Amino acid sequence: MEKKRETFASRIGFILISAGCAIGLGNVWRFPYIVGQYGGAAFVLVYLMFLVVFGLPIMVMEFANGRASQKSVALSYEALEPKGSKWHLAKWFHIAGDYILMMYYTTIAGWLLYYFVKFLRGDFHPGMTAEASGAEFNNMLANPVLMVVFMLIVVALCFFICSRGLQAGVESISKKMMVCLMVLMVVIAINSCLLPGGKAGLEFYLKPDFSRMKEAGVFNALYAALGQSFFTLSIGIGAMSIFGSYIGKERRLAGESINIMVLDTFVAFTAGLIIFPACFAYNGGETGQGPSLIFVTLPNVFNNMPFGRVWGALFFIFMSFAALTTVIAVFQNIIAFATDLTGCSVKKAVWLNGLAIGVLSLPAVLGYNVLSGIQPLGAGSTILDFEDFIVSNNILPIGSLIFLFFCTRKWGWGWENFAKEANQGKGLRFPTGKLAKFYVCYGIPLIILIILVMGYVEKFL
Ligand code: ALA
Repeated sequence: MEKKRETFASRIGFILISAGCAIGLGNVWRFPYIVGQYGGAAFVLVYLMFLVVFGLPIMVMEFANGRASQKSVALSYEALEPKGSKWHLAKWFHIAGDYILMMYYTTIAGWLLYYFVKFLRGDFHPGMTAEASGAEFNNMLANPVLMVVFMLIVVALCFFICSRGLQAGVESISKKMMVCLMVLMVVIAINSCLLPGGKAGLEFYLKPDFSRMKEAGVFNALYAALGQSFFTLSIGIGAMSIFGSYIGKERRLAGESINIMVLDTFVAFTAGLIIFPACFAYNGGETGQGPSLIFVTLPNVFNNMPFGRVWGALFFIFMSFAALTTVIAVFQNIIAFATDLTGCSVKKAVWLNGLAIGVLSLPAVLGYNVLSGIQPLGAGSTILDFEDFIVSNNILPIGSLIFLFFCTRKWGWGWENFAKEANQGKGLRFPTGKLAKFYVCYGIPLIILIILVMGYVEKFL
């Protein structure tokens, strides 16, 4: 007899875990530095628009896929595709996306955890120069053993939580982490916004100035906004789809997706409220540092704040929570792929994937030291940058397009089936009128393709 599929204990569990999958480094690490690089509020506006016009419909499609098939993406195409078609081959693309995402995500999650430890033991302190704070980051990057240890802690901890089961492990832990994260972020954001000198930061963050975006290159900015909106929602790799397979049909999927998107945006937005006022209050408005923003600029900011050690430790532990909930969610997928595809036990899937992810994460770690000569995206780039580029700017948008075509084309699962599944239950309807259908079927793919191509042209030519 087939073992009964475990489901979430509650609707709030589903929403918080899906939000936990969405909320992560994308919100607290990537969003602030990309906003800094592409000129502040104007970029935020474009990003928000992309979330709604592209991200939302595709998230609904992923959930519909999972809920209708009651399977992870490893088997969902098989369950829904027309007989004889080859849609199921797409699963390898999505699965690869999940693995590559984790190959560098675990490294950055490890940095966050390490910074929490550093603040706890007082490595950062008042009077420390900005150069000294920066040196701490470089010292960490130069130390492969240290980074491997923290990366492995993340991998082991998250697989351990998943091994306890969907309700007892994933749902129970993620729910608690998410609630703590949100409460604490609000407290730190209020503190940050009240800093003397923080107003200029708020202005940079909230007052659109499109000329700054032009300086960075408009298509470059659109391309980055597209990648960021897909990254933050974790769409295109089937990571969300599996959570659709753990829920009932009581609620329409558009309403549920909006709840998740609002939570996700709330955390990203609040991260900006923490970071930009603080950067302007204590760091001369220096925001354009790229990936090192929260590891170099922020410690410097905390050093200058009253009780900076406490704020710093709290900030980094809750940022770690954000990252860990995503790792747990994606690991849940990875375990399900293994059990769905091979029929092996959860225990075996945990051990084998734990080893695999531990090993596969090594290039990202070593790319900062032993393998620093490998600079795949040009001078100064790292293996981690390259993996992020592959996932965020390629696999996520292309994977999302695959979901979209599957859900809207007659030769796929088809618009009628998709719309029926999405609109089962109570709550907000997914629009199915002529105009909406035309926009979803043709508008979205066309715009995504144009931005992808132009983004490539601007980046590489
Ligand atoms: N959605 C995940 C994040 O934002 C990948 O970190």
